[in-house]
Amino acid sequence: MTTRLLFVCLGNICRSPSAENIMNHLIEQRQLSDRVSCDSAGTASYHIGSAPDQRMAAAAMRQGVTLKGQARQFTAADFETFDLILAMDRSNYSDILALAADEHRHKVKLMCEFCRHHSEAEVPDPYYGGEAGFDYVIELLIDACEGLCDQIEGAPIGT
Ligand code: 4NP
Repeated sequence: MTTRLLFVCLGNICRSPSAENIMNHLIEQRQLSDRVSCDSAGTASYHIGSAPDQRMAAAAMRQGVTLKGQARQFTAADFETFDLILAMDRSNYSDILALAADEHRHKVKLMCEFCRHHSEAEVPDPYYGGEAGFDYVIELLIDACEGLCDQIEGAPIGT
């Protein structure tokens, strides 16, 4: 059985494509491709069709991860397709829940719940800040993605 993960931020050009590509990197390293699949989306429509932000791609590259993808907007149909929907911050979380039927609310979680080395509640929006903010997003996401992988390796989510 495959656990289908969807990472969601605001624009789908910084945080959620980083989460998706970091997760794919770990899936390959840990040979989990038959057990986990992932995608990403944004709650907003501003950047539909755009490639990941270049500042974010540079920060990911500093940790050996290449960012691929094209932004798309989150839709209510995603509740049917995915087992676990991971919001980067509380604002993304409430925007996602606003579209959820009661039966799907349990699928939505904050990404930082899976961090084991950081106590942050949210992955901060790096868009209007400097390079250090982008590096910090990658650091947090690696922590959360490793926690997610460990959990899935132990007990698949969505079964
Ligand atoms: P993301 O970052 O939600 O991590 O993709 C942002 C991207 C664009 C904007 C804000 C945050 N924006 O205001 O255009």
